[in-house]
Amino acid sequence: MSESIDRYAVFGNPIKHSKSPLIHTLFAEQTRQHLVYTAELVEIGQFDSAVKQFIENNGKGLNITVPFKEDAWQLADRHSTRARRAGAVNTLKLEDDGSLYGDTTDGVGLVNDLIQNHHIQVEDKSILIIGAGGAVRGVLQAILEQRPASLFIANRTAEKAVQLSKDFSDLGNITGCGLDEIKDQRFDVVINGTSASLQGDLPAIPTTVFDEHTCSYDMMYADEATVFMQWSKQNGAAQVYDGLGMLVEQAAEAFYIWRNIRPETSTVIKQIRNSL
Ligand code: ATR
Repeated sequence: MSESIDRYAVFGNPIKHSKSPLIHTLFAEQTRQHLVYTAELVEIGQFDSAVKQFIENNGKGLNITVPFKEDAWQLADRHSTRARRAGAVNTLKLEDDGSLYGDTTDGVGLVNDLIQNHHIQVEDKSILIIGAGGAVRGVLQAILEQRPASLFIANRTAEKAVQLSKDFSDLGNITGCGLDEIKDQRFDVVINGTSASLQGDLPAIPTTVFDEHTCSYDMMYADEATVFMQWSKQNGAAQVYDGLGMLVEQAAEAFYIWRNIRPETSTVIKQIRNSL
């Protein structure tokens, strides 16, 4: 490998199962960009020094995943408006002057997957998003920019949803509440943004949220349908999707930030799906 090749990586802990190296390698091949992208396990407490070392080794950009998004926020010299809203950074770019630019691409990733890949309309629609953690905070601005008729955030811990809705209330019609407060309401789009699927759990929402037009979307993905997807299908959702497309779309946005070229995503989504 040449000394001067541009290097990119995802930093996380754990990181072994990351799909990002495969996704970005496919993007680079497709767009004929000469670069290397790897997954790096970073020890807790070593984030800043790992970034410094990476840059010394010709590192030009990073994706950041759990648990370093807050560290990345702290380390960035400059932040995009959307990163400031999200309170997190998942993409770092080394600028020509040596400074670090922090951005977040999860929200764009979700919205592009919904609208472009699945042809799901968000504008003027009623949206329910379940969860009020970092993952949900990271996508709220992008959803509200699509101008839904209404956006409900429902969370097991109601106060967190209420606080989030206050933080984003200037951007649209947004309401926060507890899971048990969603009664007799149906939605056009229901998004699971909780980490419940990771433990094979379901957030306790009523099946009345679905009707024959509802699209159900789990921000998680796995090699088979998540419990949330299975439950949605069994309880009347018209369409059911996982977050694999979101993963590829957020990567495409990061690639664009770094290389100023937008990869085509549909073939890459198929390839990643086949690799699961
Ligand atoms: P992330 O970065 O993935 O958002 P997080 O900030 O820890 O992680 O947030 C996890 C979210 O999943 C929270 O909204 C959490 O609800 P609480 O705020 O009440 O803890 C939600 N969550 C996790 N497990 C859940 C479960 N079994 N049922 C419902 N919600 C769950």
